[in-house]
Amino acid sequence: MAVEQTFLMVKPDGVQRGLIGEIVSRFENKGFKLVNAKMIQVPRELAESHYAELSDKPFFGELVDFITSSPVFGMIWEGENVITTARAMMGATNPSAAAPGTIRNDYAISVGMNIIHGSDSPENAAREIGLWFGGETLSYDKAINKWI
Ligand code: TYD
Ligand code: MG
Repeated sequence: MAVEQTFLMVKPDGVQRGLIGEIVSRFENKGFKLVNAKMIQVPRELAESHYAELSDKPFFGELVDFITSSPVFGMIWEGENVITTARAMMGATNPSAAAPGTIRNDYAISVGMNIIHGSDSPENAAREIGLWFGGETLSYDKAINKWI
């Protein structure tokens, strides 16, 4: 069993449309574990670092403008094969190509505003968790959990 961690982010469109709870619920209901989260107004340098691999794309400027336009909700999720499974739950980058039942198909129309980001590989998950959270995750596997 490969227990992994991934970085997921509700983008400004998802935050403004009140979809944080819905998106968190999907990953909780699936069985994944939330091990860190924060709402952040993204500095331009952070957005540029996060999307550095896309810096030569024609849409890079608009992408950074969008991500820095209003707060995002960043999260670290943990679980077996969470990187690949979260990507499947998100759906294709372009919501019009995303399968029914995926987050992007259910809640988005345009590729520029597609609600959610998720790390696409173990290497990028580690890089993004470092970039957004300094690698810090929180543990709640304590002995005193009789209410669960
Ligand atoms: P990318 O990493 O290719 O997609 P994903 O988010 O599925 O990993 O691209 C990052 C974001 O850039 C994508 O979520 C939306 C935006 N984008 C565009 O605005 N236009 C495009 O043609 C593409 C490919 C992406
Ligand atoms: Mg990507």
